[in-house]
Amino acid sequence: MPYLVERMRPFTSTIFAEMSALANRTGAINLGQGFPDTDGPQSLLEDAVTAIRSGANQYPPGIGVAELRHAIARHQRRFYDLDPDPDTEVLVTAGATEAIAASILALCEPGDEVVTFEPYYDSYAACIALAGATRRTVPLRKPDFGFDPAELRAAFTDRTRIVLLNSPHNPTGKVFARRELELIAELARAHDVIVVTDEVYEHQTFDGVPHVPMATLPGMADRTITISSAGKTFSVTGWKIGWLDAPAELTAAVRAVKQFLTYVNGGPFQPAIANALDLPDGFYQQLASGLQRKRDLLTRGLRAGGLEVFQPRGTYFIVTDVAPLGYDDGVELCWRLPELVGVAAVPVAVFCDDPEPARTLVRFAFCKQDEVLAEAAERLAKLTAR
Ligand SMILES: Cc1ncc(COP(=O)(O)O)c(C=O)c1O
Repeated sequence: MPYLVERMRPFTSTIFAEMSALANRTGAINLGQGFPDTDGPQSLLEDAVTAIRSGANQYPPGIGVAELRHAIARHQRRFYDLDPDPDTEVLVTAGATEAIAASILALCEPGDEVVTFEPYYDSYAACIALAGATRRTVPLRKPDFGFDPAELRAAFTDRTRIVLLNSPHNPTGKVFARRELELIAELARAHDVIVVTDEVYEHQTFDGVPHVPMATLPGMADRTITISSAGKTFSVTGWKIGWLDAPAELTAAVRAVKQFLTYVNGGPFQPAIANALDLPDGFYQQLASGLQRKRDLLTRGLRAGGLEVFQPRGTYFIVTDVAPLGYDDGVELCWRLPELVGVAAVPVAVFCDDPEPARTLVRFAFCKQDEVLAEAAERLAKLTAR
């Protein structure tokens, strides 16, 4: 790609696109990409149709429609006792992806450093590179994907500008515990840095494990940008309605960048999402319990196939180790998996600066219909040792 700027050359293709294309070509069950294969609540779909029919089809306000900003503020109060001002401390974005990109671009000067954990969601590395910033990663290690506090401390320097956190965490399914968040918060305060926290899986935790937003820790609401999205919570990943809440000065800074990335998006989807955020607790409980059941269904198949499973406590994903089957390279296995058993997955090593510890780790998505998971589990159970 001779025309592409150097800093973006490592990011020309995403593994999700490659594995989804492979799944399409081979007719394999696609457990690579994290999108649900069923629609969100019927009322949400109807509300979007109604909004389109009633003419909500022009540019919405740059910060998002008032109904949605108020609904986001109510949601933060209802679930976490946070109290953002819907007019100055909430910003609607084109998915969580834009909120992440605009936050990094707004806060980092070239040469600044961003502390994040690896494996990391792939857009993090690309956005840090776009900003001309440098990432300093701290490894999360199997089996429980904990981190070494000394390594986290050592990642901070006088150039650190942001800690970019993701909990519940893609790809590992880790839900950061309060004591882990407390250490991150302590370091953020000591080094006077902003925490940008990607909480798109906030309602998808299992086994009674709570999601603790960074902004709820003492003193942290003042230095935290909290990001979420309708895509995962309401199973509408294609709508790309995300948001952030943060203190007014931080929100204003991110908004200044966001207005020149997309300006606005999804006019008729915004009022529909506003209504959905007010759905009763039962909706949110069923979302988590339904996914937990799916996790267990796929886990059984993966274990029957002889893979080592690291039980996720949240998200759409299960990370496995394929070493017990005699495979020593997850990337190579993922390219062959469709032909071997008719299932597509993604290798974890591609989300790491140091691929070595993740060399034999493979991620499977379980946000699929029960029949699809049962069929995938049956196929995976036939994966024989090399
Ligand atoms: C950790 C994480 N952050 C952000 C996103 C993207 O969210 P959105 O589709 O709302 O841009 C995803 C989607 O897979 C994700 O897993």
